[in-house]
This record gives sequence, C-alpha cells and structure tokens, in this order.
Amino acid sequence: MELRLRLCIISLLLLSSKSTAIQSDHPIISRFQRYLQINTAHPNPQYREAADFILSEAESLSLQSQTLEFVPGKPLVLLKWPGSDPSLPSVLLNSHTDVVPAEHDKWVHPPFSANLDPNGDVYARGSQDMKCVGIQYLEAIRRLKASGFKPKRSVYLSFVPDEEIGGHDGAEKLAESDVFKGLNVGIVLDEGLASPTENYRAFYAERCPMWLVIKATGAPGHGAKLYDNTAMENLLKSIESVRRFRASQFDLVKAGLKAEGEVVSVNMVFLKAGTPTPTGFVMNLQPSEAEAGFDIRVPPTADQESLEKRIAEEWAPASRNMTFRFKQKVSVLDKAGRPILTATDSSNPWWALLEDAVKKANGKLGKPEIFPASTDARYFRNLGLPAIGFSPMANTPILLHDHNEFLNKDEYLKGIDVYESIIKAYASYVDGGRSAVSRDEL
Ligand SMILES: *[C@@H]1O[C@H](CO)[C@@H](O)[C@H](O)[C@H]1NC(C)=O
Ligand SMILES: [Zn+2]
Repeated sequence: MELRLRLCIISLLLLSSKSTAIQSDHPIISRFQRYLQINTAHPNPQYREAADFILSEAESLSLQSQTLEFVPGKPLVLLKWPGSDPSLPSVLLNSHTDVVPAEHDKWVHPPFSANLDPNGDVYARGSQDMKCVGIQYLEAIRRLKASGFKPKRSVYLSFVPDEEIGGHDGAEKLAESDVFKGLNVGIVLDEGLASPTENYRAFYAERCPMWLVIKATGAPGHGAKLYDNTAMENLLKSIESVRRFRASQFDLVKAGLKAEGEVVSVNMVFLKAGTPTPTGFVMNLQPSEAEAGFDIRVPPTADQESLEKRIAEEWAPASRNMTFRFKQKVSVLDKAGRPILTATDSSNPWWALLEDAVKKANGKLGKPEIFPASTDARYFRNLGLPAIGFSPMANTPILLHDHNEFLNKDEYLKGIDVYESIIKAYASYVDGGRSAVSRDEL
C-alpha cells in the first residue's frame, strides 16, 4: 500500500514536471532542447532516435549523410559539406551522442526534459557534455549556408556513439576505418570543458590512464601478535609512498605552479583485504594478502617510464613481497615514440586560426591545457592528426557528469557565433594543404 502510494506520488511528480518543462519558442533553442530530450544515457542509449534527429537536421541543411554501423545498434552519423577544392585535407567536427546516466531525484528539473528556466538556463544531461557542441556545429553551418559562404575544404561532422564508455565501438572504430582514410582529414575538433571564467578553454592533449593494482602477501598470524612483513604492513608502506607522491603533485597545483592536467594524478580507488565473515571480518587474524587499486593519470609531458620504475621499485617492490598489474595502461607516446599531443606553436597553423577565429567572434581563449581525463580526441591524435578539444562555454560552472548539468541559452548562442567563425576560417584556409604529419610515416 505504502509502496503503491509512493509510486503514485512519484508518477504524479514526473507528470507534473514533464508538463511544466518549458519549450522555447526560439527555433534555435528549441532544436537544442529536442536533441537533449532524447535519452541517450547508458546503459540503454536511444541511439536510433538521436541518429534520426541528426539526419533530419542534416537534410534540412542539404548536407550529405551516411550512417555507419561498425557495431550493430550503435549508429554513427557522418555528414559532409563538400568543399570546392577536394585536394585539400578536410575539417572534421566530432561530437558524441551518448551521455552518462543521471540520478533523476537529485535534479531540480528532470534530466531529459531540457527545461528552460526563467534565467535562460537549459537543464539537461548532455547540455554541456556534449550535445551542445554537436548541434552548435550544425547551427553554425546553417548560418554560414544562409550567408552564402562556400567552403574550400570539405567539412565533415561525425556524431559518434559510446564515448562515455571508452569510444571503442565509436570513434576508435571510425579512426581505424577505410571510410576515415577516404575523408583525408587535416584537423579535428572535439570536446573541451566549460569555463567558470570569461575565458574559453582549449585542450591540446589529454592525460593517459594507468589503472594500477598492487598486491602484498605475507605470513598470516594471530591478530594479537606483533611481527614483521605482514601483508597489511607491506601494503601500508606502499600506500604511504603513493600518498607522498600524490601530495607532491597536488602541491604543484595548489601552489598554482601547474594546471590540473599537467601533473600526474593518483587516487586510491579500492582497498581489498581481510578475512570475511557473514557479518564483517575476522578480527583476530592478520590476513596473508592485501590489495589496493589506483587511478593514475599521466600527462604526455611527463616521464611515464620513470613513473613505471617508481611503481616497480617503491610502490610494489618484489623485495617487500609485492606484485603489481595494470588493469589499463595507455601510453603517452605514439608508435613513433613521440608524445601524443597537438602542437600549439607556429608549427600548427590550426591553433593560430582557432585563436584568431575565437577573437573575431568576440570570445577570449585561455592558455592551452591538457584535458584531465580521456576523450575521443585521442583516437585522432594517435593517427598523428592535430585535434583540439574545445567546447565554447564561458561563465559556466563545470557540471559534466554532475547533477543539474545546465547551459545558459545565451552562452549556447554565443558558442554558435564562435563556431561560425572557426568553421569559416578552417574551411577557407588554403596554405599548407598537407596535414601536420604524413600518415605514411606512421
Ligand atoms: C617475503 O616472503 C618470504 C616468504 O614468505 C618471507 O620469508 C620474507 O620475510 C618476506 N619478506 C618481506 C620483506 O616481506
Ligand atoms: Zn563528453
């Protein structure tokens, strides 16, 4: 009875919040809302609905389109605005269509209502990460087309699935495909992060994950006995040295000497030890094994090899009866041994073009940064292609993956101006027709 009553109240609440979700009468904002209202959250993203929406937008813009399905049920929509000079490498505007799940009861508006509140804030999962960007690209193209602009380079847009679960069935498959080779891509734009200040943020690289598990073994014994070299003691010694290292890195950030993406982050994510009982653990027994797991992120500017040496010698030394393994380890170097990053100096004309285009649209760009986590951009950088992570959201709290993710409609509209300026600059650029690194070298 009580449960039924509660369910009743919940469904009433859901109904009432749905009916009060405010749909904008501004066609640009209302298209943004419609994309956000498609629930593409894992584990059951409505990819087909998202693809249909994008295809219908593409049709209204007379863009060429194809739907690739590298993995059944996970459509990837590829759009093309053909350039007048097909010999020039193309521009690829990438965005992912999936979003992370949301805890509905923690939100002020339902996460898939895309409610527009009186301040102009659009609340939705994906409003920052990154449906805003995908549809801003399209709105910018709509304006450029209306203004009569004709691109010299072809402009492609990829709407990829699965970024939030690693991108293996999405951007990774695309980057490896023959279709991709045929696109002759010269520059990729992908996602960035919101910025609480007036400066937009742009990312030229990202930290690589190393998921480390260390394990200690030692003789078991009575809980009352003091003796050396127990598994617990050996593991704790390691944890102490990991903590010292973590503090040394974090201090650099706290002191303002380095940005978050420029240091190695280490966070303990699990501890596993003890002899279980039905209600807890045996209290008078020192166990013979103990494990700890760490999420480590390494910027491509750091020395990954020496970090691995530190792990083997200090964090999990065999001399202390410890072993270690990586659940995941991504190299910061490409196949040719170069750090995987996009140049932000004069060797990369796309960087200067971006800076200039943002300025022309009255935007401000902060110092280039290393993205603290992973994005699909890595699959393109791995090919030696320049890829810049950029989501034009200034004066906006960083709420990706958080409750109450929102984007203000005015920031959203400003972002369209910025993309209009960037796409125009990129698609018109004719010098240095060849991409930064020849693919034959790889
Ligand atoms: C390592 O394990 C061996 C065999 O159990 C033990 O004799 C030795 O004391 C242990 N050493 C350390 C440092 O834990
Ligand atoms: Zn994202």
